[in-house]
Amino acid sequence: MTIKLNDTALLRAGPYIDGQWRTSSAGTLAVRNPATSAIVTEIATADRAMTNEAILAAHRAMKDWQAVSAKARAQVLRRWFDLMMAHQDDLAVIMTTEQGKTLAESRGEVAYGAAFMEWFGEQAKRVDGDVIPAPSGDKRVICIKQPVGVVAAITPWNFPNAMIARKAAPALAAGCAIVIKPASETPLSALAMAELAERAGVPAGVLNVVVGSSSEIGPALTDSPLVRKLTFTGSTEVGIQLEQACAATLKRTSMELGGNAPFIVFEDADIEAAVQGALISKYRNSGQTCVCTNRILVQASIHDEFVERLVAETAALKMGNGLDEGVEQGPLVNVGAVEEVERLVRLSTEAGAKVELGGARSELGPCYFVPTVLTGVTPEMAVFRNEIFGPVAPVTAFADEADAIALANDTEFGLASYFYTRDIGRVWRVAEALDYGMVGINEGIISNEMAPFGGVKASGSGREGSKYGIDDYLEIKYILMGGLDR
Ligand code: SIN
Repeated sequence: MTIKLNDTALLRAGPYIDGQWRTSSAGTLAVRNPATSAIVTEIATADRAMTNEAILAAHRAMKDWQAVSAKARAQVLRRWFDLMMAHQDDLAVIMTTEQGKTLAESRGEVAYGAAFMEWFGEQAKRVDGDVIPAPSGDKRVICIKQPVGVVAAITPWNFPNAMIARKAAPALAAGCAIVIKPASETPLSALAMAELAERAGVPAGVLNVVVGSSSEIGPALTDSPLVRKLTFTGSTEVGIQLEQACAATLKRTSMELGGNAPFIVFEDADIEAAVQGALISKYRNSGQTCVCTNRILVQASIHDEFVERLVAETAALKMGNGLDEGVEQGPLVNVGAVEEVERLVRLSTEAGAKVELGGARSELGPCYFVPTVLTGVTPEMAVFRNEIFGPVAPVTAFADEADAIALANDTEFGLASYFYTRDIGRVWRVAEALDYGMVGINEGIISNEMAPFGGVKASGSGREGSKYGIDDYLEIKYILMGGLDR
């Protein structure tokens, strides 16, 4: 093991099922550091049978957990929050080592993830029901909210902590038990979170982590009638397969899928603010977020000035091993990710896009791609149509507001969108016209635990975070009380 931590017990080596750490298992999984391509460690994996054990354990444990008062559940979540923040540095080192993002970004992600524990602990106490006017005087109509049942969560490698937190926190707050299948690239962050959940007092079986192959674990989660809800963050392609697999048992699903975020800069914008917003939104996590700017649309009259400044700022980004001081751009998660970015850039330049900066792999190692700016990008090009998931900023010029809105909406996706303007009328017109679940105005980062995160169209369904985020984990039960006049 080559990760140096203050608390070495955070490094766990196998699945966490029913409060037990499993070390003997179906197989092993090698965890690699994308910065060096070296194997960091090998961990034990779960198979279909072990996943079924986890589901059964969750089903059993949920009976007691849902009976615990909301206040007591909130206290457990608060302790989990405190522990995550107390171990922020160690969790960040684990994350950077297995995922590649810079240490500053990993620390930020741990705080972002922990915030969901704090937020949903507070929300647990606000799961109110209703008393509804009855059809006659001898009756009363009441609604109560109850946990939806055992939750399965399939989480991605790009946010190895926060995407688990955004699902596990509302599930536990609502009184559900959860089985988490983290991405195979980043299991160590998930297991470290489970270790802290155990220390926080989450009872055995209420939270389980099954690491291993999707083809073993996925069908166990989707086919089990005991699992009543599946929540997924990942690609639209896999989201559709999961929806289909969940249909046979009519599970509730929430899907946080791909994006193709437009970033519109109008001629009345504060150009410097727009360049800074584009940088943070595009190059966060080396371009590997679902809400990263995917297409920069700039009004023709300010196009050249904007591009000049964007290129200068992008060229100044320091690339390297995320663990090293001052690094602002880490590697991509694996070689496959680099190959895909390379393919999209090649197809687009062959179709006429101009490389203003970068455009190729870096000599730093097989997982590095140089931050890139492309101009002359048109709607037919691969970088315009596909989610890039890498450090490539494609720029397209537009004529007027109608043109910008048409270009922005010209995609099957509808997750995040951004625009920069100082015209108050335009703020409302454009915000309402964009076919997206989220709109950032004069801001390049919009994610926080208090806001509803989610998309429309091929970007999925459901909202995570905010006061709405717990609803996906609750069922409404209608109770009619009659005979009250007797
Ligand atoms: C994602 O990329 O899936 C999540 C990004 C965020 O929460 O900001």
